[in-house]
Amino acid sequence: MEWTIVGAGAIGCLWGASLQQAGFGVTLVLRDATRLQQFRRAGGIRLTREGNESLHRVKATLAGDCGPIERLLLCTKAFDTEAALRAVLPRLTPNARVLVLQNGLGNQQLAGELVGPWRLAIGSTTDGAWLRAPFEVVHAGRGQTRIGASDADSSDLVAELPDDFSLEVCSDPDIETTLWRKLAVNCAINPLTAIHACRNGDLVRIARYREELIRLCDEFELVARARGTQLFDRPLAEQAQNVAAATGDNFSSMLQDIRHRRTTEIEQITGYLCREAERLGIAVPTHRAMLEQVRKLEATQHRRDSNHG
Ligand code: PAF
Repeated sequence: MEWTIVGAGAIGCLWGASLQQAGFGVTLVLRDATRLQQFRRAGGIRLTREGNESLHRVKATLAGDCGPIERLLLCTKAFDTEAALRAVLPRLTPNARVLVLQNGLGNQQLAGELVGPWRLAIGSTTDGAWLRAPFEVVHAGRGQTRIGASDADSSDLVAELPDDFSLEVCSDPDIETTLWRKLAVNCAINPLTAIHACRNGDLVRIARYREELIRLCDEFELVARARGTQLFDRPLAEQAQNVAAATGDNFSSMLQDIRHRRTTEIEQITGYLCREAERLGIAVPTHRAMLEQVRKLEATQHRRDSNHG
């Protein structure tokens, strides 16, 4: 079986290396000729896991040159979902399956509308990975990837992975709740760390940040309760503080995006929550303030970039 991966960030590279190691054919679909050249210079995906480094000679191509796709893994940033899928849509075989492994919410539904809901599997991961350089991924924290679907059976996809697959993967009969749990933690940690330019652990250590985090969690719980979503077996504020403390030295993905002047996933994280709150008639003023502040941070960067030509 061949897997095609769109989105060669940390998670895309981690999966690419792991699938290749498990004996699957793997092709990365890259953005442009410059990325393809960069990949050729790298010679493949370099994976560092538990101190061991290995090189995985997967293939790479551009969307226009891509062959038929049987298994597609989409792990671009959430805001790239539509463009990334449209570019490879004509290559999907009639029995193709598409696994979406992204942050945020709303993008999975969009993916289902584009590829057909019967083809779609949805994943959510707690694996910690970061890129040391393009195509050089560090698997920093072993987590779990849960895979489910709303309109299809995704257990066949999970069953295709060998028992000794190097990533922990399981079927999830309620992937929507899993996505909401991840959204809850991301809504608490990501915008705050981006705005205060701090490490995750500072949200627990610094009292005024901790108070904001608790307010965000309380507002989130109102929305979750109104839609009947069961979050954690403890208050969200406690869960979010545990995650912030456990990843205390890390800079969140949103802060990294801000620092590297990349578009953040704020619209698919806090933006999604605010839209859902509005639909349900629930006030979430602290989340709205976060949304506005992160949007402003992004706009300031873009302005600065255009001033510098
Ligand atoms: O987006 C991230 O950086 C992570 O998902 C999280 C939960 C904030 C922890 O590092």
